[in-house]
Amino acid sequence: MNVLVAGGAGYIGSHMCKRLAEAGHRVVVLDNLSTGHRAAVQWGELVQASLGDTAVVKDALKRYQIDAVMHFAASSLVGESMKDPYRYYENNVIATLHLLQAMKDVGIDRFVFSSTAAVFGEPERDLIDEAHSCTPINPYGNSKLAVELILDDAARAYGLKATALRYFNAAGACSSGVIGESHSPETHLIPKILRRAAGESIEVRVFGNDYKTRDGTCIRDYVHVCDLADAHLHALDYISAQPGFHRFNLGNGAGYTVLEVLNAAEAIIGRPLAIPYGPRRAGDPAILVASSEKARRVLGWKPQRADIRQIVGDAWAWHQAPAY
Ligand code: UFG
Repeated sequence: MNVLVAGGAGYIGSHMCKRLAEAGHRVVVLDNLSTGHRAAVQWGELVQASLGDTAVVKDALKRYQIDAVMHFAASSLVGESMKDPYRYYENNVIATLHLLQAMKDVGIDRFVFSSTAAVFGEPERDLIDEAHSCTPINPYGNSKLAVELILDDAARAYGLKATALRYFNAAGACSSGVIGESHSPETHLIPKILRRAAGESIEVRVFGNDYKTRDGTCIRDYVHVCDLADAHLHALDYISAQPGFHRFNLGNGAGYTVLEVLNAAEAIIGRPLAIPYGPRRAGDPAILVASSEKARRVLGWKPQRADIRQIVGDAWAWHQAPAY
């Protein structure tokens, strides 16, 4: 298939491009490089444009005879979204609408969308399945949920074949070390720990140790970025055969505490990292773990890299000598 990867110069998008190319697909990256990296585009041509550059996008869809679009381009910082919601609605909702309209205009009907656990809001139970209510508590989650609603409507009205994949905590890097996670600013736990371990002057604290969990620190469902890429391939096959709009949660169904992540990092690096405790971060639920039973059953997805030591180890291979 010819697949356009919007946001293909970013962290998860670039891993997707690699996986698509390995599976024999032809990849075209659409990215404005506002947060993505030119050096991460290694598996297909780059069309440097924003999603709202409709003429360029339509031209690319036609010129490369695109069969399906995977959409990773988004603003994705919860805290930033609280301060600047317009930016999130603009970049995540309006821009996506432009992309969908361009696809419709040129007759492309397959769409795989990066969604997030943030669509659920405060968890009502420890294992979050697709039946969990969606009441986001920040503009980032709202913007992703808004797109899910649009996709549902578009499937009904226009016959769009679409899927939203709700990632829990994407982490790790491809084991070859040629691409990895590189955000500025970095807010995520694993890259912060590892960048500090690699010598950067990044301040890292454990955000709260008085949660009702096994060691008092928050539990998250870390899922390897290459396992996420695999899930997208399954999703692409699935929507090709099953029209409509489908939602899937993607995680490992088991969480690790912040201290367990830290311990894994110390074991891999081979020395203590002396990360101090700090206060809770506003808006962090105690536990966020996915039930991915539906993705396993319906898509046939089976994460291969669920062990936190592999996730942190692959990330560490990248962070010791990041190419960008
Ligand atoms: N944490 C620390 N110290 C840090 C950074 C994080 O202790 O310096 C803790 C957080 O409190 C949390 C865990 O590490 O318990 C993971 O935090 P991340 O910032 O890495 O990830 P989040 O769980 O906050 O965010 C993820 C996704 C978001 C999504 C959100 C849904 O990255 O895109 O889950 O709630 F919106």
